[in-house]
Amino acid sequence: MNTRLTQLAAGVLATVFSVAAQPAREPRLPNVAILATGGTIAGTGATSTTTVGYKAATLGVDALIAAVPELARVAHVSGEQVFQIASENMTPGHWLQLARRVNELLARDDVDGVAITHGTDTLEETAYFLDLVVKRSKPVVLVGAMRPSTSLSADGPMNLYNAVALAASPDAAGRGVMVCMNDQINAARDVTKTNTATLDTFRAPELGPLGVMESGHPTFYRTTTRLHTSATEFDIGPIQELPKVGIVLAYAGSGRVAIDAMVAAGVRGIVHAGTGNGSLSTDAKAALVEARSKGIVVVRASRVPGGTVARNGEADDDALDFVAADNLSPQKARVLLTLALTRTADTHEIQGMFRRY
Ligand code: DGL
Repeated sequence: MNTRLTQLAAGVLATVFSVAAQPAREPRLPNVAILATGGTIAGTGATSTTTVGYKAATLGVDALIAAVPELARVAHVSGEQVFQIASENMTPGHWLQLARRVNELLARDDVDGVAITHGTDTLEETAYFLDLVVKRSKPVVLVGAMRPSTSLSADGPMNLYNAVALAASPDAAGRGVMVCMNDQINAARDVTKTNTATLDTFRAPELGPLGVMESGHPTFYRTTTRLHTSATEFDIGPIQELPKVGIVLAYAGSGRVAIDAMVAAGVRGIVHAGTGNGSLSTDAKAALVEARSKGIVVVRASRVPGGTVARNGEADDDALDFVAADNLSPQKARVLLTLALTRTADTHEIQGMFRRY
C-alpha cells in the first residue's frame, strides 16, 4: 500500500515540476486586419509644414503600416487597400463594398478585429453605416488624420497605433463601431467632425466619448444605449444598390426649390435639415407634403448641431406622416433612413427604428 502511495506522490510531484519548468506561453497576439480607403492619413504635402493644400489618398496601406513598427507590439496586422480616395468622394456604393469586406473578415476565426483608415470628411457617415450593418461584435475601428503623413507632428501614426490597439482589445468587443482619433474613443452613432482643421475635431459634443486611449490601452466610461452590429436588423447581403436619400438644408428664404429637385431626381427619402427644432417653412412644408403624397419618406432633422427633433413638436408629424430624426444629425439620419428603406416604407416602423438605433 505504502509503495503505491509513494508512486502516486512521485507522479504528482513530477507533473508539478514539469509544468513549472515549462516556459510561460506568451499569449497569442490578436490578428487585426487594416483596411485602407485613402484620406489625409494617407496624404502627402509639398513640405513638412504643409497642413492644407496637400494631396490626400497617396500612400498605400503597406506604407502606413511600415511607418508604425510599434503595431507589432499590439497585433499581427494585415493590410488591404480597399479604395484610395479622398472621403468627399465616398458613396453608398463604397459603403456596401467596404461593409461586405468587413463582414467577410470578421467571420474568419483568424481575424480578431478590423481597423479602417479613412478620410475625415465623411468618416462619421461610413462609421455609422458600418455600425448598422456589421454582423459581429468583434471590434471595428475607423481612424483618420487631420495632418498629412509628411507633416511635422503628423497625427496619423499615433492614431493608427491606437486604432489597431483598440481593435486588438477584447474589451472593445460588443461596443459597436468606434472612431479612434486624438486618444479618444467615440461611438459611430454619436461622433461628428466638429472642426475643419484641428486634431481634436472628432467629438460627441453632448454625449461625450465612450472612453480614452492611454499608452495603447483603452479605458471605457460609458456604453451606447442604441442597437448596433450584432443586434442589427439590417442585412446588406441581397442589396445591390441602396435606396437614394437626399438631404435638404433649410435657411432663410430656402423655399421649395431643393426639395422639388430631390423629388425630380427620384429619391425615395428626404431628410430635411430644418432650422431650430426641425421647423418647416410654409413653402418647404407644402413641398414635403407633395413629396410624401408620391411615397417619398420624409424625416425632419435639424441643422442645429445639438439637441433632439421632437416628434409632433414644430410640425404635426402624425398628421403629415413624417418621421422625426431624434438626436441624429442630418447626415446620420440619412444613413439610417437609407437602410430603413431597404426594409420598409412604413413611417411608423421607420420612426421605431429612429428610436432603436
Ligand atoms: N479630403 C479629405 C478627406 O479625404 C481630407 C480630410 C482628411 O482626410 O482628414 O476626407
